[in-house]
Amino acid sequence: MLKGRHLIEPTDFSTEEMEKLFVLAGKIEEKPEDYREICRGNVLATLFFEPSTRTRLSFEAAMLRLGGSNLGFAEPGSSSSVKGESLADTIRTVACYADAIVMRNPKEGSALLASRSSVVPVINAGDGGHHHPTQTLTDLLTIRQMRGKIEKLTVGFCGDLKFGRTVHSLVEALSRYSGINFVFISPKELTIPDYLKSQALLKSNVNFTETADLENVIGDLDILYMTRVQRERFFNEEEYIRLKDSYIVNPAKLKNAKKDMMILHPLPRVNEIDTEVDKDPRAIYFRQAKYGMYVRMALLSSILLGDKYA
Ligand code: NCD
Repeated sequence: MLKGRHLIEPTDFSTEEMEKLFVLAGKIEEKPEDYREICRGNVLATLFFEPSTRTRLSFEAAMLRLGGSNLGFAEPGSSSSVKGESLADTIRTVACYADAIVMRNPKEGSALLASRSSVVPVINAGDGGHHHPTQTLTDLLTIRQMRGKIEKLTVGFCGDLKFGRTVHSLVEALSRYSGINFVFISPKELTIPDYLKSQALLKSNVNFTETADLENVIGDLDILYMTRVQRERFFNEEEYIRLKDSYIVNPAKLKNAKKDMMILHPLPRVNEIDTEVDKDPRAIYFRQAKYGMYVRMALLSSILLGDKYA
């Protein structure tokens, strides 16, 4: 039962609990009118200390489409954190006004810290370069709905695997499914962190390879998960400029890809997927953004109301 639970890391929920969410998200997508009023009277706080389009707006849309209400801020400059208030005090206060809190913050570990000060569920909407578990729910639901199952897949992660929190979370979560192979494609400066290799990959015996050459491996992939280079996490702007266009997917590069390969991207895209690719049936990223809203509707109803609608 997910009622009252926090969601801080991508493996906080079991695969069975996640499957329940995906089933519910599918039902909501099919018949949204049945769920229009279920969260009436509930209030969600969205506290965004970092920029966001999809995550914040899809959470707020999810809450509104369930009949609930939102409050919060998208601009930390308008909150008391600029007066020096601690995160713990901000969260304790917001927990007096809201039934659940969604927070994005540039500091790794901040979501866990927030959950310790909160009497209501805290959902991590991104803590620095660490994790982004609701993007993972989005990604997994997209794969499940498009493929019918989440198993026996070769998944290529391409771009900034060092700082990309959506990559870190999806790698951990996918490692729990059977028959998954990973191909990590990045420049050597942006490879996947060692802790992920030792914690998630080596422990679960997942096969993985690392390369800098996308074109060489694209034909092996069932899923190509593109990411942008995370400018805001670089210490040095020149290094960012040097690495930012390491990979640009265009129709020519897709020639050798499987006919049913799915191209996913958490978005925002900067330059890494040519807009010409948007017309390709393998380009799933905007559909993925829509699944993000349905899975957040399922998540909010489950943590606020329990299994009543599952
Ligand atoms: C991602 C994030 O914030 O980590 N965006 C999102 O939530 N869809 C990816 C990114 O910013 O590159």
